[in-house]
Amino acid sequence: MDPLRPFFMEDYLEGSRFTARYNLGESGGRPVTVGELLGGSGVSPAQASDAFLSTLLRDSPNWGRADLRDLVAAMHPGATRENVLITTGTSEALLLLFRQLRPRRVALAWPAFQLLYELPLRQGAEVVRLPIRWDARGVPSVDTREWLERLERERPDVVIINNPHNPTGLVLDATLLDAVARWADANGATVVGDEHYRFLSSDDAVLGATVYRPDKRTFVTGSFIKCLGCPGLRIGWCVGDTAMLAGMQNEKNYTTHTVNPVTEWISHEVLKDLDSPALRGAREEWRRNRRTLAAFLERSRGVYGASPQGGLVTSLGVRGATNARDFEARLAALSAQGVFVLPLSAMEVGAPEGTHPLEQGHGFRLGLGISAERFPEALEAIERATAA
Ligand SMILES: Cc1ncc(COP(=O)(O)O)c(C=O)c1O
Repeated sequence: MDPLRPFFMEDYLEGSRFTARYNLGESGGRPVTVGELLGGSGVSPAQASDAFLSTLLRDSPNWGRADLRDLVAAMHPGATRENVLITTGTSEALLLLFRQLRPRRVALAWPAFQLLYELPLRQGAEVVRLPIRWDARGVPSVDTREWLERLERERPDVVIINNPHNPTGLVLDATLLDAVARWADANGATVVGDEHYRFLSSDDAVLGATVYRPDKRTFVTGSFIKCLGCPGLRIGWCVGDTAMLAGMQNEKNYTTHTVNPVTEWISHEVLKDLDSPALRGAREEWRRNRRTLAAFLERSRGVYGASPQGGLVTSLGVRGATNARDFEARLAALSAQGVFVLPLSAMEVGAPEGTHPLEQGHGFRLGLGISAERFPEALEAIERATAA
């Protein structure tokens, strides 16, 4: 497969997931075992074994376990259990939500996580790009005025706020979020918050800001599985208006129906204490890797960019690689050094806009989901491949 044209991002990722020496292509945390996750959530091996072996493998409740829905509701001020649907990953929450919303025109930060635009596009919706800009040092930012002008001009019926943002690592500031919410209110648009990285969006607070508001036109999707390095658990949620969730749940009955009870049990153990060693440990490793990356970027002669403000990915440029051919050669050199990353071109559709190399897709997404001990070694491999 041409590495610059990986139309199917997930297939591309799987091509190296199990084999790369340094897998920095993923968007999640360093994978943990069931034992580590439960141990870090205060469950002893004996308790875990008892609970696991005595779990009845019947269908879980259609909307998800009530106590789990309560825990998710508690993370969204103003929400109750009736505002929460448990899903098979955030992906399913987004799929079901878009199918109910039937958007005509969807605005979202660009570049974007593939699923966020592919789902609306396949339903025949148009996509409105809200640009992320980069400065000469590769630091990303959003111009609030530019976004508002574009919303006013294009008048989308749905605005997606992916915060923290994949693939730039930006945490959108309160003023911008407020301005978008006011525009949506004034224009009858729906706001969808994809808050997949919410547990890794603030240096001090376990939970970063949410766009959730208890009204009929705000929906939030999320999970903890990427932040805690357990994507194999496949759990997620949608929080929002009960009538809309009921439509989603009805369709869910014909597909995944319910979430596996073992997954729901583990998820309940993880979320019952947001100050658990599992969460504290994941956040500490995230902070360490961000510091390591920031120090590396200060001195790197091969790559440029910024450590993520939130989440586990950032977008880096390669010095001197301003066109597709140069960039492709550096990608091959990275691969020869055992480093696997995701080219930004894998996350874009249509003709790239903007003049910055990163806006044109000549860069890659770097994941921080590697142990803090091995990260410096992986970054040195990147330097060897790019600074030549
Ligand atoms: C921003 C964002 N939204 C949604 C998803 C889908 O995640 P899940 O694995 O929970 O289905 C991802 C996965 O990487 C993501 O990064």
